[in-house]
Amino acid sequence: MTDLTVETVLITGASGGIGEGLARRFAADGARLVLVARRGERLQQLATELQTRHDIEHVVIALDLSTPEAARILYQDLELHGLTIDILVNNAGFGRNDDFTAIPMAEHVEMMQLNMVTLVQLTHLILPQMIARRRGTIVNVGSTASFQPGPYSTVYFATKAFVLSFSEGLSQEVREHGVTVTCLCPGPTRTDFGARSRMDQNWNFIHGSMSTDAVCDVAYRGLRRRKRIIVPGILNWILAFSVRFTPRFLILQLMQQWQRPRKAP
Ligand SMILES: NC(=O)c1ccc[n+]([C@@H]2O[C@H](COP(=O)([O-])OP(=O)(O)OC[C@H]3O[C@@H](n4cnc5c(N)ncnc54)[C@H](OP(=O)(O)O)[C@@H]3O)[C@@H](O)[C@H]2O)c1
Repeated sequence: MTDLTVETVLITGASGGIGEGLARRFAADGARLVLVARRGERLQQLATELQTRHDIEHVVIALDLSTPEAARILYQDLELHGLTIDILVNNAGFGRNDDFTAIPMAEHVEMMQLNMVTLVQLTHLILPQMIARRRGTIVNVGSTASFQPGPYSTVYFATKAFVLSFSEGLSQEVREHGVTVTCLCPGPTRTDFGARSRMDQNWNFIHGSMSTDAVCDVAYRGLRRRKRIIVPGILNWILAFSVRFTPRFLILQLMQQWQRPRKAP
């Protein structure tokens, strides 16, 4: 494993949840952090706390990553700060659970831009430096949603299937250049995501969610070992891999039961 005290780690969506959890773990190992999300105050609070605790350097960039120009703006900011990224964690993302037509088209587009397009754009901007230096790590946050379609969260599941396919393909392409691509595929995790996406009342969230710390511990260990796919939690792992051997119509029926929108009691 590389010495993180000489590495610069960019984490999108670091103002809460899994992104914050990973930022805490990288900071504990002494990495310089570049933290990105919309809520700049939360990022600044976190960065100040981590600097006090671990004496790390940090840069905070408050930016909405769901616009077509966001990746370019972020990259220009990195250049202004003279930063070269050693580890890129494409974590920012959101979902939404409802009938496909009940979700405004603008929200579908925003989700596709954030979860897929910005992720690809950032990777496209940052990867060439990694290839030139023959070292680097890219971590893309997919989901157990990456492994099968999800009725009522159709676009979200499709974006996460894209993230897994993109990550696996790219990992094979760039490994000969010394660059690792990891796809982190968490199952339901107790962050703000559940309430924001309205999935927190779904069966699998109520009965099968993991703590953010448990997910981040497994994720951090796995990405430091340069694993290609990380699925935290044995149950998530079994579900993710059993879909390969289960008839598609059964998977779709099960997912429909799990994903059917429910009102909070
Ligand atoms: N929690 C789960 O059950 C679960 C399961 C599988 C996969 N995931 C994936 O894990 C990743 C992290 O989610 P989480 O669970 O940690 O959820 P979270 O607590 O809601 O965190 C999402 C992060 O993304 C940032 N973000 C959202 N929209 C953004 C935008 N337009 N521009 C910039 N940053 C934005 C948020 O910051 P701001 O609001 O400050 O911008 C926040 O830091 C996501 O990709 C999600 O799809 C989550």
